[in-house]
This record gives sequence, C-alpha cells and structure tokens, in this order.
Amino acid sequence: MQTVESITSLQAALNEWRDRKTRIGLVPTMGCLHDGHLSLASLARQRSDRVVLSIFVNPAQFGPGEDFQRYPRDLERDCRMCEKAGVDLVWHPAPAQIYAGDHSVYLQEDSLGRHLCGSARPGHFRGVLTIVAKLFNLIQPAVAVFGQKDAQQERLIRRMVRDLNFPVELITAPIMREADGLAMSSRNAYLDPQQRRDALCLSRALRRARRLYRAGERDVEVVRAILRRELTDNATAQIDYVEIVDNTTLQPVSRMMQPVLVALAVRFGATRLIDNLMLPDDRLSNLPE
Ligand code: PAJ
Repeated sequence: MQTVESITSLQAALNEWRDRKTRIGLVPTMGCLHDGHLSLASLARQRSDRVVLSIFVNPAQFGPGEDFQRYPRDLERDCRMCEKAGVDLVWHPAPAQIYAGDHSVYLQEDSLGRHLCGSARPGHFRGVLTIVAKLFNLIQPAVAVFGQKDAQQERLIRRMVRDLNFPVELITAPIMREADGLAMSSRNAYLDPQQRRDALCLSRALRRARRLYRAGERDVEVVRAILRRELTDNATAQIDYVEIVDNTTLQPVSRMMQPVLVALAVRFGATRLIDNLMLPDDRLSNLPE
C-alpha cells in the first residue's frame, strides 16, 4: 500500500495505473476510520482494480464553532487499517494542497441541501460538494462509494453527479453498526459512558418507526410524535430534528405512501449524531430487529 501526501505524488501513482487502463475505486473519508469506512473500501475493491482512500478533514464543510479543530485524527492507525482492508493507496493531503489561500469557487446545490442537516449546518453541503468534486477531478475514479449513514450527503452527491455529468458510478453502502445497534461514527469517540448508553435511543427510535410502519401506520405526524418521545426519554439527548421525507427528493411528506427516509439528528452535549431508516426497503439501514 502506498501513502502519499502531495498532489504530484498522487498523480504519479495514478498515471501508472491509468497507463494500464486500471479501473479506480475511490472512498472519500475524513479519517479516524472504523468498520463502516472499511466496508466502503471492500465494496470499492469488488467493483474496481485499485482502491484509493482519501483522508482529509475538510475545513470547508465545518461551520464556525463546529468541531474542525478537535475532529479526531490518527493517521498511523488509519493506514494500518487500510493496509489490512486491501486499500492500494491512501491519499492524505495537507489543507494547503487542496485550498489555495484565495480559493473562491464553491459548488452550491439548491434543493436537497435546504432541509435536515442543511438547516442546522449552513454551508456544510457546499463544503462537501466542493471537496467531492475536487476529489473526482483529481482522482478520476470509475466508481466512488458513499455511505447511507449520511443519507442526505449521498443524495446530494448523486444529484451533483447527475446535474454536472461527472463520469463516475456511485455505490451506496449500508450503515454499519456496533453490536448494540449504534451506527458507527468517528464522532462516537466524543461520547462519555452515559451519553454512549443514551445514544442507543437513535436506533431504538428507528426500530419503533419500522414497527409502526409495519403495523400499517402511515401518518407522519403520529410517528414523529412517538419518536420524539422515545428520543427525549433519557437524560442527555437533545433533538435537532426528527423528519420523515421523500427518500429521493428529501421533501417533507404527510403520509408515508411512497419510499421515505426517517432521518434523526440528536445532540448529546456537544456531540451531534445522525441515523436514518429507509421504508419500506430498509436493507441499507442494517437495523437489527
Ligand atoms: P466521513 O464522515 O469520514 O465518512 C466517510 C464515508 O463513510 C461517508 O460516505 C460516510 O457516509 C461513510 N460512513 C460513515 N459512517 C458509516 C457507517 N457507520 N457505515 C457505513 N458507512 C459509513 O462523510 C464524510 O466523511 C465527508 O463528508 C466526505 C464525504 C469525506 C467529504 O469530506
């Protein structure tokens, strides 16, 4: 496995592969890797000849007062995990490689990014789309893998690829969870023991939503009210949003008559966690019964 930092050494490695018509699979990450990230690498592996995993804590997607400075970073551990997972190249650029001091062009999406995390984190998706577009331009992957964990991000990237004609195939990976149901996240590391226990309310609420749906409940307000109660029934959780939206357009619905996304964002102290469930096809959510 190669680990490179500069754009020049990245291009040198990629050019060798491109000369041999190698199909490149890309997994963009911000590091502090867990099994969720590695599952993306293994999907990329199945669909390409060489896997590039990028590790870059992207300053452009963090708002003022968010956790950019304290976001967990452990490159050595990440590289060991990548090596074991069969990644061929880890690209770990310095911010100055990516953003010129006077960088002034950003990608703006005007519909899907307005709700859910977009309202709580203004500018977040602009930063995400800008870095993902830069990664696509620099690496020119045939396939790129993103996680259902960040469902809204995945929908926005799909829209960007469609609307701007990026020649890349996107694969969506299921949510990987801890044994007790908590969705894996680099931010879980921030939780204290009490918050870690309370954080189970997210997957518990999603299971509740699935049971209600299976029992025939279709009224969004009824389900949201029950989920809100489920989420606030513990010491440390503070709801950011509980939304049920159209699975593709992410627009609010009043009845669950088409494929929907049940999306949750909950704060535990300063830590904000998200989780989601698609209905009726819940496979990507990987939620235990
Ligand atoms: P990061 O949070 O590091 O996540 C990298 C990728 O891993 C994303 O596609 C995310 O959806 C996926 N992922 C995270 N937790 C997961 C889990 N429990 N199971 C499966 N996949 C999971 O998302 C980002 O970084 C950034 O916004 C990025 C796309 C890299 C742009 O900076």
